[in-house]
Amino acid sequence: MKRFENKVVVITGGGSGMGKLSCEMFAAEGASVGVVDINEVTAQATVDNILAAGGRAKAYAMDITNEDAVKEMFADVVKTFGRLDVYFTIAGISPMGTAVTTTYEDYKRVVALDMDSVFLGCKYSIPYMEQQGGGVILNLVGTYGIRPTPNKLGYSAAKAGALAITRSVAIDFARSNIRCNAICPGFVNTPLNKGFEGEARARFLRTYQPAPFEIQAKDIADTALFLASDEARAITGQAIVVDGGTEASLYLNYKRPE
Ligand SMILES: NC(=O)c1ccc[n+]([C@@H]2O[C@H](COP(=O)([O-])OP(=O)(O)OC[C@H]3O[C@@H](n4cnc5c(N)ncnc54)[C@H](O)[C@@H]3O)[C@@H](O)[C@H]2O)c1
Repeated sequence: MKRFENKVVVITGGGSGMGKLSCEMFAAEGASVGVVDINEVTAQATVDNILAAGGRAKAYAMDITNEDAVKEMFADVVKTFGRLDVYFTIAGISPMGTAVTTTYEDYKRVVALDMDSVFLGCKYSIPYMEQQGGGVILNLVGTYGIRPTPNKLGYSAAKAGALAITRSVAIDFARSNIRCNAICPGFVNTPLNKGFEGEARARFLRTYQPAPFEIQAKDIADTALFLASDEARAITGQAIVVDGGTEASLYLNYKRPE
C-alpha cells in the first residue's frame, strides 16, 4: 500500500517549483491532491500530469490571501474528496528591501501572502481536521524566518510570523491530534531563483552553503512526505531546516579549508 493511500492533501503554490513537485509526489504516493495556485494554467498543468500518471487531483485557481476563496476551497476539497488530511502551504513571494527602501505597500503585500495566508489556511483547515480526528499542516517558511539576511526586511518579518503561527497552532491543537511544522529551506533551485544563475549563484553557494550541491525541490518534497507521515507523529511545532548546513554556521568561510 502506498504511503498516502486514501489521504487528501492540499498544496498551495502547486503550479511551480516545490509546490508542483510536492503535488506530484504526494499523488504518486496515493493521495488525492488539491492543487492551489493563482496561475490557472500552471495549476491545471500539474493536475494534468497527476491524472496522466493515474492519480487523483483537482485544480483551484485562486489567490490564497482571499479569505472567502480559502474557505470555499477547503469546503470543495472535502465535498470532492471526502476529507482533508494534509495542508501544505508553499505559495509565496520573496522581495528585497530594507526598512527604508521597502514601500509600505510592498511590505503589506509580502506580509499578506507569506504570513496572513498561513493564518487563513490554518483557520479554515483545522475545523475539518478536528472533525475527522487529526491532520497535518506544513508551512514552507525558510531560514530567513529564523534569522534575516540583509535587505530582506518584509520577507524575513513575514516568515518569522509564519513560524510563530506554526508553533502556536502546534501547541493549541496537539490534543486534537493535529501536527503543525515549518519547513525551512535555504537556497533551492526553483523558478523563484531563475534570475540568479551561473557564476553568481555558484559563488553564493560556495560562500554560504557547506554542502557542495544545489538543493532541489525534491529535497523539500521528500521532507514534506516524511513530516506528513505517521513516522513523524511525535514531531510538531518545529522549524525543520533543509539547507545543506547554512543556518548551522556562523562566518562560514572563516579559515575554511578549500
Ligand atoms: N526557492 C527558494 O530558494 C526558497 C527558499 C526558502 C523559502 N522559499 C519559499 O518557498 C515558496 C516558493 O516556492 P518556490 O521556490 O517553489 O517558488 P515558485 O515561484 O516556483 O512558486 C511559487 C508559486 O506560488 C504561486 N503564487 C504566488 N502568489 C500566489 C497567491 N497569491 N495565491 C496562490 N498562489 C500564488 C505562484 O503562481 C507560483 O506557482 C515561498 O514561500 C518562498 O518564500 C523558497
